[in-house]
Amino acid sequence: MNGSLTRLGDRDVRRIGFGALRLLGPNGFGGPEVPENSESVLLAAARKADVIDTADCYGPHLSEEMIARTLWPYREGLVIATKGGLTCPSPGTWIPDAAPDRLKRCCEESLTRLRLDRIELYQLHAVDPAVQFEQSVEAMARLREEGSIRHVGLCNITMSQLERARRIVPIASVQNRYSVADRGDDALVDRCTSEGIAFLPWFPLQRGSLARAVAGPLALVARRHRTSTARVALAWLLSRSPAVVPIPGTGSLDHLDENLSAGDLTLTGADLDLLDGRELKE
Ligand SMILES: NC(=O)c1ccc[n+]([C@@H]2O[C@H](COP(=O)([O-])OP(=O)(O)OC[C@H]3O[C@@H](n4cnc5c(N)ncnc54)[C@H](OP(=O)(O)O)[C@@H]3O)[C@@H](O)[C@H]2O)c1
Repeated sequence: MNGSLTRLGDRDVRRIGFGALRLLGPNGFGGPEVPENSESVLLAAARKADVIDTADCYGPHLSEEMIARTLWPYREGLVIATKGGLTCPSPGTWIPDAAPDRLKRCCEESLTRLRLDRIELYQLHAVDPAVQFEQSVEAMARLREEGSIRHVGLCNITMSQLERARRIVPIASVQNRYSVADRGDDALVDRCTSEGIAFLPWFPLQRGSLARAVAGPLALVARRHRTSTARVALAWLLSRSPAVVPIPGTGSLDHLDENLSAGDLTLTGADLDLLDGRELKE
């Protein structure tokens, strides 16, 4: 029912991807405590998922370097989706910087770090309030025309920004914060679905503490299926729309297997009623 593949740009990818942020130090700043552990999770993720999400500011730079060190030469069909336009000068501090010339420089540096001739999916990480949005998007469009990137993605955008961007360049993906407990972007998910744009929800598990917001329903559905709340949360995302490609992050091989197998879990109509708040009691 969840389908096993989703369209991302001009290729089909498996429905659940992997977010590489959690393989680093706290807040994605600095390297991991035990690099070998992170590298073994990354290797396993790249075998079982088709989309690995990263960004130049994760580390900073360390995530892209780890990906190249561990996975290059990349297997056929693996999409390394990276981002530019945000800086991380200290742990937990994220500052947009999406001026056109900077985006070009960031892309060139990501190509070098990732040892790629072309980035399959390059995402504008954040809208920079100091730069006219169209100028950032035009810079992404130029990177695509030059062949440095194959597809343009946008992160942390509104519906109207999506429409403004689409007047300039085809948009292959949107990556916004979204989960069973965080549905502010329902309309954007619907628009992406109808327009054939992949939607990559970030924070799909809310750092493993998703249960707080929808604790009762999630726990109940998890009990019904004898599984974890994380798997239910991911199965809900898969059932939400065929355009959704969750990118859960983890530093644990067990959690990775749990997350990547969420497509095997089929939620019933009664489960969905409960999770969508249509029925508060069993
Ligand atoms: N575009 C953006 O602005 C943006 C912002 C943030 C993140 N992202 C991307 O989105 C990806 C995912 O977001 P996220 O890492 O913030 O949130 P997340 O995937 O919702 O949560 C990751 C956390 O959940 C825990 N976890 C993972 N699987 C679990 C399981 N099966 N059971 C229990 N706990 C589990 C992990 O801990 P363990 O290591 O212990 O498993 C980790 O601390 C990131 O890796 C990054 O690529 C993008």
